[in-house]
Amino acid sequence: MPYICPICQTPLVNILPAQSYECVNNHRFDIAKEGYINLLPAQHKKSKEPGDSKEMMRARRNFLEAGFYQPLAQAISSIIDQYLADTPKLHILDMGCGEGYYSRQIERLAQHKNLDLHGLDIAKNAILAAAKKQPRAQFIVASSERMPYSNDYFNLLLRIYAPSNNNEIKRLLKTNGYLLTVTPGPRHLWQLKEFIYQDTKEHDTQAPLPEGFSNIAKQKISYTISPDQKQRMALLQMTPFAWRATEQATHAIEQTQDLEIETDFILTLAVKN
Ligand SMILES: C[S@@+](CC[C@H](N)C(=O)[O-])C[C@H]1O[C@@H](n2cnc3c(N)ncnc32)[C@H](O)[C@@H]1O
Ligand SMILES: [Zn+2]
Repeated sequence: MPYICPICQTPLVNILPAQSYECVNNHRFDIAKEGYINLLPAQHKKSKEPGDSKEMMRARRNFLEAGFYQPLAQAISSIIDQYLADTPKLHILDMGCGEGYYSRQIERLAQHKNLDLHGLDIAKNAILAAAKKQPRAQFIVASSERMPYSNDYFNLLLRIYAPSNNNEIKRLLKTNGYLLTVTPGPRHLWQLKEFIYQDTKEHDTQAPLPEGFSNIAKQKISYTISPDQKQRMALLQMTPFAWRATEQATHAIEQTQDLEIETDFILTLAVKN
């Protein structure tokens, strides 16, 4: 079983007729009608609705579904095929998966056909949307600070623009398992940032690696996109710098004709020794 109880850390067992998961101490978690499980107990929540809001999730879905980051999804799928082709059953977890775009794309694009896809996010609205769209993957509401999965369960963890906890990453990955991190490269969304900052600076591209991991491959993907006005607004909402944009800057981003925007992604693949 992949899951452990978020309260007492003993294994969670699927109780079939009741459509729920239970541990030996009778902590019980229902499977929602969309198929996801909420494994974030109220006492572990720091706010009523943690994580990205429904509006942010919708903006991200509209933008991603338009295909602007499809080359990134393709690169992730190719890395899976290149490094994990020989693993008979591939257990993959997307940490901070949002509304599940990359998980859907991996199911579609990866050559490997025995995939056990999992996604975790602290935002319930995002997990509900992800589960609805991809019934063959397994989604849970949980924090990446305490991921309620058994030790050594996964072959690959994905960390795509999402917060993470190094101890948890180390605990969940099998020995020789992989951590694939996607971070913004120096020129990522440069033309959007020019509207917002007086003095646009290149991104810091560091992604701290857990102890006991070694980097084995690094790949950079850059290309330009030309989102329309509505898609630009969605993109802006997805970015961590959206809150810095003045009304004037937001208006200018929306009204500019034919804005070409650079994307710049850095993919880092590390292995657990
Ligand atoms: C920038 S978004 C990236 C989403 C997705 N990986 C993507 O690239 O489209 C960050 C995501 O992390 C989630 N998040 C924030 N804090 C979290 C936490 N402590 N545990 C799990 N997810 C978290 C947010 O709800 C949001 O969906
Ligand atoms: Zn329990």
